[in-house]
Amino acid sequence: MSESDRYVALSRYVLGGGLDASCFELRERPKPRPGQGQVLLQALALSADPYMRSRMTGQDTFFLPQYALGAPIESLGVARVVESRNPSYKEGDLVTGLVEWADYSVWNGHGKLDGGGLLLPVASSIPKISHALGVYGLNGLTALFGILYVARPKPGETLVVSGAAGGIGTIAGQIAKIMGARVVGIAGSAAKCAVLLQQLGFDDALDYRLPSFQSDLQTRVPNGADIYFDNVGGKLSQTVMWQMRRQARVIECGQISTYEDPSGGWQVDIRPIHAKGLRWESFTTAHFQELMPGATAQLIHWVEAGKLTVLETEYHGLQSAPQAMIGIMSGENIGKTVVNLTAAAA
Ligand SMILES: NC(=O)c1ccc[n+]([C@@H]2O[C@H](COP(=O)([O-])OP(=O)(O)OC[C@H]3O[C@@H](n4cnc5c(N)ncnc54)[C@H](OP(=O)(O)O)[C@@H]3O)[C@@H](O)[C@H]2O)c1
Repeated sequence: MSESDRYVALSRYVLGGGLDASCFELRERPKPRPGQGQVLLQALALSADPYMRSRMTGQDTFFLPQYALGAPIESLGVARVVESRNPSYKEGDLVTGLVEWADYSVWNGHGKLDGGGLLLPVASSIPKISHALGVYGLNGLTALFGILYVARPKPGETLVVSGAAGGIGTIAGQIAKIMGARVVGIAGSAAKCAVLLQQLGFDDALDYRLPSFQSDLQTRVPNGADIYFDNVGGKLSQTVMWQMRRQARVIECGQISTYEDPSGGWQVDIRPIHAKGLRWESFTTAHFQELMPGATAQLIHWVEAGKLTVLETEYHGLQSAPQAMIGIMSGENIGKTVVNLTAAAA
């Protein structure tokens, strides 16, 4: 009998806040075999990211396709090459790229999705392989590009960041501090705010779930923010934008609060932008692809110099991957959310 392989599939599409364990199933299939030019990967660590939620709604809500029901979910991951029929890779190579939520998956040799299909080497020097998904992966790169090339805070400016305790927010806020900004984080609990202040050196932190959030923001940022780095969108961002100073800058990184919306999400009410004369700019990390090697080197330097603290929320085992995704949407995580599949990854 052929060897079997486990994978996690989406069992049904769901809108609204309804993502729960019943939306996923752990299935079995024969272990995949690589064809000519292909590579067999053993997944070591998987990433759970907000954009994946918009691929689980059953609606054409985003620029990536919906996950097929019953098929393996795909995400960024770190994997080991266990069999190679491609001259560019050899058995034992550690790589990062798009993998399936499975113990084993086949990389097809040319990439499955634009920008996400390449297999890149993982530096053997990094202390934890999951850092290739977080601080040295999508999260760290997005934070660096967003702060250094889009937000460009000047010393003394006040930068407010939402989703501040998440994978991107924790790093974006710290990089803004390195640039000399006064950084105010917005997060979903008192415990998260304490982490921002005590572990990451943010200047202030506000809990947006408190009924007093709007007046807290007014009190703590009385002159209005110079820059708002938005990871969340929706009502929270409306509240922030109405309290910014005239002609301040809004940097649109993401809109997680809208990804489950039946409306398709990604809607911005431009009234505060108009009324305050705000400048609103959006970006994706793909826009900065050519800068990635230098950006990674800068992130490594900051981490090694003790200027960037790396926080992760870790799940263990393939069967825990659904909970990692559910946790992102319900605010369970602090820092990058990763699923470690082997003891070597932990
Ligand atoms: N521009 C780009 O190239 C790019 C690349 C990657 C990601 N992104 C975007 O960047 C944002 C952050 O991504 P990430 O990977 O760092 O995720 P993350 O912040 O680690 O995880 C999600 C966090 O969002 C918060 N959240 C969830 N639902 C919310 C809601 N309805 N209202 C307010 N906060 C909510 C939760 O924290 P609380 O406890 O604080 O609610 C949760 O912990 C996302 O919008 C993502 O789509 C952009």
